[in-house]
Amino acid sequence: MTELRIPGPTPCPDEVLKAMGRQMINHRGPEFARILNDVTAKLKQLFQTKNDVLLLTGSGTGGLEAAVVNTLSPGDKVLSVSIGVFGDRFAAIAQQFGAEVIPLCFEWGKAADVDEIRQALNKEPEIKAVLVTHNETSTGVTNDLAQISSLVKEYDKLLLVDAISSLGSIELPVDDWHCDVTVTGSQKGWMVPPGLAMVAISEQAWRAGTKAKMARFYWDFAKAKSYLEKGQTPWTPAISIVFALSVALEMMLKEGLANIIARHARTAKMARHGVKELGLHLFAEESHASNTVTSVAASDGLDVKELLKILREEHQVVLAGGQQKLQGKIFRIGHLGWVVEEDIARVLKALTVALPQAGFRSTS
Ligand SMILES: Cc1ncc(COP(=O)(O)O)c(C=O)c1O
Repeated sequence: MTELRIPGPTPCPDEVLKAMGRQMINHRGPEFARILNDVTAKLKQLFQTKNDVLLLTGSGTGGLEAAVVNTLSPGDKVLSVSIGVFGDRFAAIAQQFGAEVIPLCFEWGKAADVDEIRQALNKEPEIKAVLVTHNETSTGVTNDLAQISSLVKEYDKLLLVDAISSLGSIELPVDDWHCDVTVTGSQKGWMVPPGLAMVAISEQAWRAGTKAKMARFYWDFAKAKSYLEKGQTPWTPAISIVFALSVALEMMLKEGLANIIARHARTAKMARHGVKELGLHLFAEESHASNTVTSVAASDGLDVKELLKILREEHQVVLAGGQQKLQGKIFRIGHLGWVVEEDIARVLKALTVALPQAGFRSTS
């Protein structure tokens, strides 16, 4: 069996896959309403929120677009805190819809510096919202969202959070950290195929929504909420993925959120320790290394493309390369969702054999 260890899509347990094979049901009927209400209630528990949670059919990027267009108007100033590819994407969405984006970019591999965010907020009092990526999948770095959120709330700004590769895997108490819109995607820690974005919306975000003038139709939160009250979604949902999510959430609640978070911390630690033992270097600063994805620097003659090919073809282990300017410079091991220590052990075993074949000569 292939060991899929990219940071999403992630492997799905058999029970989840089986649920996907169910016959279709009426998405405007009572059975779907029951499932949707149940899934929404379970998501609230795992998001640690009492606020509204909406299920949107689309990928995570759709959820990010929804966060922007439902809270902002063209011309609004937003501070974009970016530490990689996905932070840049969040900013690009806001820009595309007419926001005045003030970029605050940090070196890839490092976390955002809270003092610099404070300086930016002091410099531009008109800033309405702060966009931040909790876990930057492209670099394997987790921002200190607790600190960032308390700062953003000290300045009374809206906080829009890309938690696509963290929520359900890394601690993120949505209400305690005062996140206004929090976005995640089904194909990450939720052990479900791609197809759904899940978003939590605070009271403050709803209030902003009543004044937000950005164009929106498919991603209209107010419409989604009014349909949810009837146990429906405004548009035909990805019913099979909802079936799958229902089973996955049941499994997650059975395991318990604290245990899930601890399991991710253990597997991540094992991955970091293992690659260092092999003589490799972590790309992310270790104090903020992600518990869902480990990024490894390509050093000492390592040809990343060759490594990924050998792993895929000879060991049935699929890892991810670097994105954009990190292409060829790093590789990434995804360890989120359905992952245990044995999975990481298999990856490390395959790496031990494949690294020298891909040109790596350890100097440490
Ligand atoms: C942090 C982060 N943001 C955004 C995205 C984009 O999500 P999607 O590919 O589901 O649109 C991803 C996907 O890898 C991600 O990891």
